[in-house]
Amino acid sequence: MNRRIVARTGWLMLAAVAAALPAPEPSRAAEGAKIKVGLMLPATGTYAALGTAIENGFRLYVQERGGKLAGREIEFVRVDDESDPAKATDNVNKLIKRDHVDVLVGSVHSGVAMAMAKAAKDSGTLLIVPNAGADAITGSMCAPNIFRSSFSNWQPGYAMGEVVAKRGHRNVVTITWKYAAGDESVGGFREAFEKAGGKVVKELSLPFPNVEFQPLLTEIAATKPDAVYTFFAGGGAVKFVKDYAAAGLKGKIPLYGAGFLTDGTLEAQGPDAEGLLTTLHYADGLNTPRDAAFRQSYAKTFKLPPDVYAVQGYDAAQMLAVGLAAVNGDLGRKAEFIAALGKAPIESPRATFTLSPSHNPVQDIYLRQVVGKENKVIGVASKALADPGRGCKL
Ligand code: BEZ
Repeated sequence: MNRRIVARTGWLMLAAVAAALPAPEPSRAAEGAKIKVGLMLPATGTYAALGTAIENGFRLYVQERGGKLAGREIEFVRVDDESDPAKATDNVNKLIKRDHVDVLVGSVHSGVAMAMAKAAKDSGTLLIVPNAGADAITGSMCAPNIFRSSFSNWQPGYAMGEVVAKRGHRNVVTITWKYAAGDESVGGFREAFEKAGGKVVKELSLPFPNVEFQPLLTEIAATKPDAVYTFFAGGGAVKFVKDYAAAGLKGKIPLYGAGFLTDGTLEAQGPDAEGLLTTLHYADGLNTPRDAAFRQSYAKTFKLPPDVYAVQGYDAAQMLAVGLAAVNGDLGRKAEFIAALGKAPIESPRATFTLSPSHNPVQDIYLRQVVGKENKVIGVASKALADPGRGCKL
């Protein structure tokens, strides 16, 4: 009951703030103009494959609807953001000011996405974040026109903190890249793990996207913790899992991670990933009709199995479609778009989710185990987990 009241109050406030957004540009819906989607994703670097999967997922949803959402053709403008926060403000401003996109979709890297969120907030451009988990995007930087189809960094970390404590581990070392995603993933883990009586005895890190893990692995071996918790993704995750095994730690000190450690990476990690336990909002083997249809369609189109990034891209397009349907394709009716999307159930392949008052998915976090080339679901680590949205003042 209380949650419902809080949610409703949040929405009333949201509608009021939405009305105060910068004045929308004259509507182009009546002219039947295309909707311009600015895709700002990495096409190079350690997160390149993640960017490709997100774009594939987004395009698949649009393609399944004949290239149109709410009767409007979708046109794409793309920027390779290289997962480089230093270039992010220039890159996003190209999309907003030069290309005059209607909607921004991006990005993978938390630092890049925070620059996008600032530009979206300042300009009033609609932004859908299809991966980056930076807590601030749906926390202190939240805005009526900013939505996320993925997760907050806190979510999988928090869920794994509870799992590791329940498995009886007491002293844990964490290891990650030193930037928002790593810090916040470890922060979520630490919060739940220490609340349950555990202790994070050492936090190890290296700069993104470095992969010289050896000295840190030597330190883990010397510390002899009960277990290790980690956040790595993309190419870095492949190398970390292989190096962990090569250092002789696999089978000696249990390794747990946010699910990015083994998503979209299993082909390259091979047997070194076998048996790893991770937490994430998607998994293999969900066996629902919605997921089966998505997986079949994705595999047929791209000749690849989908991963979590593909799901997030697909759902970003789906969220745009939900908002557009509510305003008959007229993005000039921004406050109505925002109100409709904020309360809609999103029929995701991961399972149906809703958005929190700060626009982050409230979703089940699955516990998964690597079996061969799959992240098999073995349970729900945390049911309908909502990010606390700390600092969001909508
Ligand atoms: C991030 O930077 O937020 C991120 C990157 C890859 C996977 C998950 C999160």
